Amino acid sequence: MIFVNFKNYPQTQGEKGLKLARICQEVSQKTKIPITPLVSPLLALEILKKLGPPVFLQHADNPTPSTKTGYITLTQIKNLKITGTLLNHSEHRLSPGETKNTATAAQKLGLKTIVCLSSLGQAQKWGRHLKTDYLVYEPLEFIGSSTDSVSTRRPEIIKKIADLVSPLPLLVGAGIRTPEDIKIALSLGAAGFLISSAVVLAKNPRQKLTTLAKSLA
Ligand code: G3P
Repeated sequence: MIFVNFKNYPQTQGEKGLKLARICQEVSQKTKIPITPLVSPLLALEILKKLGPPVFLQHADNPTPSTKTGYITLTQIKNLKITGTLLNHSEHRLSPGETKNTATAAQKLGLKTIVCLSSLGQAQKWGRHLKTDYLVYEPLEFIGSSTDSVSTRRPEIIKKIADLVSPLPLLVGAGIRTPEDIKIALSLGAAGFLISSAVVLAKNPRQKLTTLAKSLA
């Protein structure tokens, strides 16, 4: 499986975002590899209206007390029929306690969650105990890289975390941009990928995503 993180790149704003989500859906249908966009709440609603699920958010909140202002709550997400959410991305950190509480609350509501970890230590200390559908290992230093990837630079950590958290599926992300990156990580026990810049910034996102998806088959 592949999750495409739209982040806030200009290439994902407004109609362009919807077009990229359509590409995700069409490439998924063609290659039979599940491909899900990770988007802002506003774009998620457009996607649901025009294309349908699945769609995940890039972040969610679990505010207590409920008088806090400006949060994207799990209940709203559930009521709007959004599939699930990413939590604790390196670009939108939560504390371990907040991550745990939010993931547990999301599961109770039937929302899917992907929790990001940036090190083996996090996986050992608290990541492996979380109630979540997926964990993802993304070392911060390779996020957005066009020369290095988690697969080529941290293969031993992928293997260790995949073994540690099994049978929970481990996704990997950070600098994933070639079929080789995909194949290395799969051979080490990864079950899927979080990919952003390689697809979002590609001259031809459909072609790039198709190439990457086919290497998972
Ligand atoms: O969430 C995925 C992301 O952080 C990885 O980004 O650009 O290295 O694929 P990128």
